[in-house]
Formats: sequence, C-alpha cells, structure tokens
Amino acid sequence: MLGLIEEDFMHLLDNPIRSDELLVKTVDIKHRFYASSSEPMSHKELIELARDVGDEHLIELYNDHSLGYAENGGSLDLRRELATLYGPEISAENIVVFPGAQTGMTITTQALLHPGDHAIVVTPSYQSLEEGIKYAGAEFTRVMLSPDNNWQIDVSAVEATIRGNTKYIVLNDPHNPSGALLSADTKRALVALAEENDILIFSDEVYRLLELDPSDRSNSIAELSSNGIALGTMAKPFGCGGMCIGWVACQDKSIIEKLRKAQHLFAVCFSRAGEIQAMMALRVRDKIVEKNMQIIYENLELLKDYFSRNQDLFEWMPPQAGGTGFVKFKGPISADELAEELLGQEILVFGSAIFDCDEELKQYFRIGFSRRTMPAALKAFEEFVEERRAQWGHPRR
Ligand SMILES: Cc1ncc(COP(=O)(O)O)c(C=O)c1O
Repeated sequence: MLGLIEEDFMHLLDNPIRSDELLVKTVDIKHRFYASSSEPMSHKELIELARDVGDEHLIELYNDHSLGYAENGGSLDLRRELATLYGPEISAENIVVFPGAQTGMTITTQALLHPGDHAIVVTPSYQSLEEGIKYAGAEFTRVMLSPDNNWQIDVSAVEATIRGNTKYIVLNDPHNPSGALLSADTKRALVALAEENDILIFSDEVYRLLELDPSDRSNSIAELSSNGIALGTMAKPFGCGGMCIGWVACQDKSIIEKLRKAQHLFAVCFSRAGEIQAMMALRVRDKIVEKNMQIIYENLELLKDYFSRNQDLFEWMPPQAGGTGFVKFKGPISADELAEELLGQEILVFGSAIFDCDEELKQYFRIGFSRRTMPAALKAFEEFVEERRAQWGHPRR
C-alpha cells in the first residue's frame, strides 16, 4: 500500500508551496509579503470582545467545556451560528464543520469524486483545489482565467469542457490570487449550466465578507442552488486560523450526510475549544471584519501609491475582495525567478508556479495585504527593487 501511495500520490505533494524550504519560510521569514489571512486575533482580545457584547455565557462555556469528544461534523450550537452567515436556504442541518477549510475541500472532493469521474477546475486558484481532485483519482480539465477578462469565468469555456462523466466544477470566489469577484450574472449563468447538466459546483468562498465594497457581495453559491457547495473558514475574514474551524454549506442534505460520514473517517471530532471560540468570534463578526477591513484599506492605499510610481516594472489590478492580489512583473526575469531572488532577501511572495499557471501568466506573483506587517514588507520590497533596477535595464530616470 505504501508503495502505491508513493507511486500514485506523492507527486501531489510536489507543489513548490510544500517544499521544505517554503514551508519553513512561511513560518519563519522576516517579510511575509504573501500572507493572505486577516491580522491574527489573540484569545484575550476575543474574550474582551465577547465580554463587551455580554456573551458571558460563552466565556463560561469555554472555561468549563468538556474535553471529551465533541459532536462529529460540528456541534449544533456552532452550526446554528454559522448558518447566520447565509440566507434562509441554509440552516444548521445544511452545514458540516471540518478542522479548517483545507480539510473541508479535500474531504469533500474525496467523498464526492471518484476514479472515472471528470471535474472542471477554474484556474489559477488556490492550489489545493486542483490537488484534491488529483488525490481523489478523478480526471479534470482546466478552464483558465485571464486578466484580459478581469479574471471572470468564461461560462461558454466551462460549457465546452463538459463531458458525460463531468460531476464537479471547482472555483474560488472571491478569487485567490487576483482578489476578483465573480459577477452575480456569471454566477447565475454557471448555476444554470450546472443544474442543466446535473453537475455540482464547489465554490471556495473563504474570502467572503472581505469585499472592499460590501454592496459587491453577491449570494453564496450555497444560497443560489442545491447543486452549490460553499466552503468557509474562520481563518481569512476573522484572523482565527488557529481555531482550525472550516465548514461546508449545502442545501442538499444527502450531500451533507455524506460529508459528515467522510469527515468521521478522518477525524472523530475536533477541538470544542475552537468551536466555542468560533462562536464568540461569529457573534462579534461585524467588529472584527471592520477592524480587518481598515488594515486592508490602508495597505491598499500604500500599494496603489507604490505601483503607480513603478508602472514601468509592475502592473497592478486593484482587487475587489479578500487579502491577495496578483501582480504582473514587467522586468527581464520570470515572476518565479523574482520570487526566488526575493526569498534570498527574506521577502516571501508566491510566484506563478505555486498556482500551476500557464506560460501566459508566468510574469505574475501573488502578494498579500491584510496584515499590519505589510508596510514593512513593502518597504523591504521597494528597497530590493531599487537595488535591481539598473541590472534589469530600468534605471530611475
Ligand atoms: C482560497 C483558499 N482556500 C482555503 C484555504 C485554507 O483555509 P484554512 O486555513 O481554513 O484551512 C486558503 C488558505 O490560504 C485559501 O487561500
């Protein structure tokens, strides 16, 4: 069995994001210019917020919770709280909680896709979305996004790739890396296509709630159709990745039941402490999101100013949501080579190889702008670029 795993699956772990060098660096590097989740909260801060809104009962629940097994698939009180993020189509019975969104996406794919099935992957996107499909042993076809189309999904391209055995469309909205939002019209067209062809749409919506203009927020895919499966996390909008709480929402209870069982296979339960912390955070979510958006707005101003002063070397498409942007490098080396050189200076950005990009996108790299540490990272980046300008044939005029 081990031989089989090594032969068939170990290559899935070869994405550069999982190289020893990068994995260590994501924890221990001076400038995390790639970072995508919101400014991390402390437990102390969370307790103060809970106290401010009179949620003493949750503080008590936290201090006195049982360390026995919690409910498989997520405790009912947490699932009820999560359901308030959606419209009336989604209630506690339509939600399965996972130990983080990453686990949620991988287990969902494992449970719903099998060898012989075909999936459509909208790419570039969060790398594990495609890897989950490979891991499930299904076939897949990529549908490429392009900056020429504001990173919108070309629904006719998706339609052209549908086969008799197509079961699943995977996308990421709000989009990592570009920060683009799928327009409501495109979403509706995709849903219609999926319903007509009896295909599920798995939408990674972990950056939801971080829209720069909240009026741009359209319905979750889980609200729009019983073919829609939406993925969420405490990490991105709330800066609470350490709670290790992600979830899937879906109107179709037979899918929810399958996912709950599949989750049990991987984890009998997860941390009740994390669940209670998540409830505290969800109940003060407006305050947390407001604080996190303030950091994002301020950082985006700095980026706008920097990229407008350096248009000869970079093309910046302002994002609409989330904590990441995809920047085009116009210098003489590829974005991956640039990322490599930056790494040597303790500045981590993600080059296009991390996203399995086509040749057309090889000049793009991802940055993150949702942390208080971003201005220092940008300053170090600026110093690095100034030093290289002459060598790149772009001296300051
Ligand atoms: C688009 C996307 N989906 C999922 C995840 C994983 O989320 P979690 O940290 O909750 O496992 C990430 C993390 O970077 C992400 O960017």
